[in-house]
Amino acid sequence: MTQQQKHDGELPPATGDIVFVHGSGDSARAWDAVIERLPEFHCVALDLPGHGALAERPGPAEMSVADYADRVRAELARRELSGICLVGHSLGSAIALRLAVDHPSLVRRLVLVGAGARLRVLPALLDEASTNSTSVMETLTRMGFAPGHEAAAAAYHSAQLPVAQGAVRRDLAACDRFDMMADLGRVAQPTLIVVGEQDRLTPPKYAAYLHDHLARATLVTIPDAGHYVYVEAPDAVAGALRAFLTPAGG
Ligand code: COA
Repeated sequence: MTQQQKHDGELPPATGDIVFVHGSGDSARAWDAVIERLPEFHCVALDLPGHGALAERPGPAEMSVADYADRVRAELARRELSGICLVGHSLGSAIALRLAVDHPSLVRRLVLVGAGARLRVLPALLDEASTNSTSVMETLTRMGFAPGHEAAAAAYHSAQLPVAQGAVRRDLAACDRFDMMADLGRVAQPTLIVVGEQDRLTPPKYAAYLHDHLARATLVTIPDAGHYVYVEAPDAVAGALRAFLTPAGG
C-alpha cells in the first residue's frame, strides 16, 4: 500500500460519526466488511433511493448526483448528523464531493473510494443498464474486481440486494453527467482518496487528479485491488480510514 500525503498543517479533531454512501446498483450492505473492522467508530451506512432497504421506494425515474445528494442531506438531518466523516464509493463519492462543496458544515472530512471528479460511463454499460439491470451488475462486478478475486466477486454479486427497476441505469446516467473537475478548489475538507491499483472503472489516473487538485488530500493506493477495493481489501481500507481519522499521537 502506498500513501502520498498533501496536508497544510494540523487536521481538525476527528469526529466519531462516519457515514458511508454506496455506488451504482449497490446498497448500504456493501460496507459491512469495512464497518466491522472499525468498532471504535459510530458508522452509519445509507441506502440511496431504490437500493437496499429502499428498493420499494424508488424515487423519480431520473436523479442527478445533486438530487441524490439532497436525499442524503435529508437523511443526515433526519438522523441529526452533521460534522461527519463522509465516505463515498464511485457514485457515492460523487455525492460526497457534491455535499462537501454545497454543505461544508455537514462534512468535516471526506473519503473518496474508487472515485473521480468526472465519471463518464462506457456507452455499452449504459446500454446494458437500460435493457438488463441484472446483467449490467454482473458486468460491473466482472470489470470491477481485480484478477485473483473471482471467488470474492461471485460471492459479492450473489449477495447483492435487488434494486428498484431502472435504478442501476439511473445511477450510471447520473455518474455519466457528473463533472466537478473545475470545482475541486472549492473542497476545503481534509480528504482521503483510496484507489485500487487495478481499478478499471475509476482508474488511478482519476485518483491522481483528485490528489493534485484537492488542497488537503491524502492518496492511498492499494495493490491487487480494483474498483471494489473495500471488498477486495477491507483490512487495508479500514486501516487507511483509521489512520486518516486518528492522526499520529491522536
Ligand atoms: N479524472 C482525471 N481525468 C479524467 C477523468 C477524471 N475523473 N475523467 C476523464 N478523464 C480524462 C480521460 O482520461 C481522458 O484523458 P485523455 O484525453 O488524456 O485520454 C479525458 O479526460 C477525457 O475523458 P472522458 O471525459 O472520460 O471521455 P472519453 O470519451 O475519453 O472516454 C469513457 C469515455 C466512458 C470511455 C471513459 O470515461 C472510461 O473509460 N470510463 C471508465 C469506465 C466506466 O464506464 N466507468 C464507470 C464509472 S462509474
